[in-house]
Amino acid sequence: MSFAFRSVIVFAAVCLVSRSSGAPTPVAFASPQVDARVEELLAKMTIEEKVGQLNQLSAGNVTGPEVSVSNSAELIRTGRVGSILNATTSHSTNVYQRTVLEGSRLKIPILFGLDVIHGFRTLFPIPLALSASWDPSLVEETAHYAAREASREGVRWTFSPMIDIARDPRWGRIAEGAGEDPYLGEIFARAYVRGYQGDDLSRPDSIVACAKHFVGYGAAEGGRDYNTTEISERTLRDVYLPPFHAAVDAGVGTLMSAFNSLDGVPASANHFTLTDILRGEWKFRGFVDSDWTAVQEIMVHGIANTNAEAARKSFLAGVDMDMQSNLFLPNLPALVRSGQVPMERLDEAVRGILRVKFALGLFDHPYVEERPVSRPADDPAGLDLARRAAEESFVLLENRAVNGTPLLPLARVPGRTIALIGPLADSAADMLGCWSGIAESRDAVTLKTSLAERLAHEGMKLTVVPGTAIAGGTDLTFNEAVSAASRSDLVILALGENGRSSGEASARSDIGLPGHQEQLLEAVMATGKPVVLVLFSGRPLAIRWAAQHVPAILEAWFPGLQAGPALVNTLFGDSAPAGRLTATMPRSVGQIPLYYDALNTGRPRHDPIGMDGRKEDPYYVTGYLDEVSSPQYPFGYGLTYTAFDYSEPSVDAKSISAAKINAGDATLKVTAEVRNTGSRAGVETVQLYIRQRGTSVARPQHELKGYRRVKLAPGESKRVEFSLGRDELAFWNIDMKHVAESGTLYIWVAPDSAHGSPVKVDITD
Ligand code: NOJ
Repeated sequence: MSFAFRSVIVFAAVCLVSRSSGAPTPVAFASPQVDARVEELLAKMTIEEKVGQLNQLSAGNVTGPEVSVSNSAELIRTGRVGSILNATTSHSTNVYQRTVLEGSRLKIPILFGLDVIHGFRTLFPIPLALSASWDPSLVEETAHYAAREASREGVRWTFSPMIDIARDPRWGRIAEGAGEDPYLGEIFARAYVRGYQGDDLSRPDSIVACAKHFVGYGAAEGGRDYNTTEISERTLRDVYLPPFHAAVDAGVGTLMSAFNSLDGVPASANHFTLTDILRGEWKFRGFVDSDWTAVQEIMVHGIANTNAEAARKSFLAGVDMDMQSNLFLPNLPALVRSGQVPMERLDEAVRGILRVKFALGLFDHPYVEERPVSRPADDPAGLDLARRAAEESFVLLENRAVNGTPLLPLARVPGRTIALIGPLADSAADMLGCWSGIAESRDAVTLKTSLAERLAHEGMKLTVVPGTAIAGGTDLTFNEAVSAASRSDLVILALGENGRSSGEASARSDIGLPGHQEQLLEAVMATGKPVVLVLFSGRPLAIRWAAQHVPAILEAWFPGLQAGPALVNTLFGDSAPAGRLTATMPRSVGQIPLYYDALNTGRPRHDPIGMDGRKEDPYYVTGYLDEVSSPQYPFGYGLTYTAFDYSEPSVDAKSISAAKINAGDATLKVTAEVRNTGSRAGVETVQLYIRQRGTSVARPQHELKGYRRVKLAPGESKRVEFSLGRDELAFWNIDMKHVAESGTLYIWVAPDSAHGSPVKVDITD
């Protein structure tokens, strides 16, 4: 990391990213006008009408175990259904709305919800991919676009963002979130909320967001979906809660309670998280929806014996709306009348739901215009955003030199032949990934389609052979693929997972390339031809052999509708990959859990800040006998088509007082110079990590506390500046107080979580 050059330092004209970036979003539910309308309506409601608002039914589409409700039409007509999920067209939402508005006494409109996770009809990359952009403004744009498409159909509520911290790539739902880091989790939580809700929920194209799954769901033991979680209160507060707190601060209207049990208490019946923290500490004023049948499942967890008991426990803990268990509606009225559930609790839940409905303007504009269904192709701006989002999400993992030049970007050489091999080269359906909503695979453009167009334009030739199936299936074209490779000048291998092998109920115990793809990869490599591996996955995969042998590897995730154009632009260098991993890529499944912000232990294999006089021991250290401790690719890692050099970071003070930090009166300025040493312009994500020693509880080896995305021309350098204050330096200490403490602070400014050398600052009392 030497940094010896003379240059004019350009003070960072950089893309600033911070936890509080963007205008503060007004809390959508705080308006006195909305509150007055809520109180007026509440005063007119019977117990049955109130409980009706807490009841949520699905319009057919099933995303969990089915619970059939025979008299749903009658329930809707009489105002016993507050929300419907999975209605997706303007016609269907209008029909349901008309039923309640024309049939019921109080004419309270229905709120329609849907899993709009990474787009509605125009599908963007999966959320894990979007997070690899480290670009919250991009995420905000995609969320806003999705909100516009969904709201036109009357869908004014999305069950997104999923902001569960995920430290285990076996867990399929890692695909739906922003990875393993709480700091990034907060940034993306705010970005999604702003994107969906805008700054005014009553605009017809705003939809209310739902932060899910509250809370700890991502810590499922063994990565098995729905599994038990054991999280200490400190880890809960330091790691799993921050994104939710950020979403609440950004004005999120709803949360979804999770399936998992937390310290023995199901998250959907957990008073500590749903009420003490969410409402007590954070002053949340929206409402909590249960996950699908999660109220009923607390009986299966084992903390209730009857339907009534499940309804009572879940409701008293703080769940306001019952998704598909159908237990609040039949049980709560009697529980309220018998005094087992206080009327104030019922009123509180109904207030939250009505606040959201009023804030959305549903009472004033309950219907939407019924228009013919549009196609993504009707809006080039949407497709352009989808392509840009995909390009920003790609992570270049390897780019070794072949004949003295990095293999990527590809050279344009007329007459050259490229073999495109692999089961994901032309699979439109897989490009969508999990939770693809109502997007259609016919609208997705594959790598094969776009590459064929580009090569025809460049005067180059293309052969395409699948070689094998994604998993199982036949290998009828295996030999043909290998011989096509040997006849070509270059091979692009499109390998990875099935688009549906991540997402809900999609854990994997082996996170390598499925089926016979590893064999195909090795056979193609044996031809000696230069190989570019394009990896499609909904999780970090373990690709040890490929990492060692394949010259160029591009992690493409599931890129959405514009997969092909985005990939071809990137492979040919019209755009340069600049994504960074937001989840560690392990070498092998046995290393899991493996995340960058782990505690140091008393016997680390290597301690970057030294061991205070103790020698690092080669044997008596944490780790495995048969596996190295480091990941294949660390958190924050990603290459691009140029290279950067970093200076040592410098700080504006050698010591700073904890008392002043806590009072908000002191911040530390950290700067570093970054220079583009290559011959192309490029974007570098400059990352700041801290570690503190001498504190009342052990702190992680590294914690991300800031980053800047800087664009640098060849030879250009910029001074990048960070500031560390209370938000960055406070943690949950031994007394469970969120404060900065005295101790020694180590600060790195580096290209990823595994590099750089630290500067030291004393934090005094
Ligand atoms: C179950 C999933 O866990 C949740 O994320 C989703 O929003 C609901 N089903 C509704 O589809």
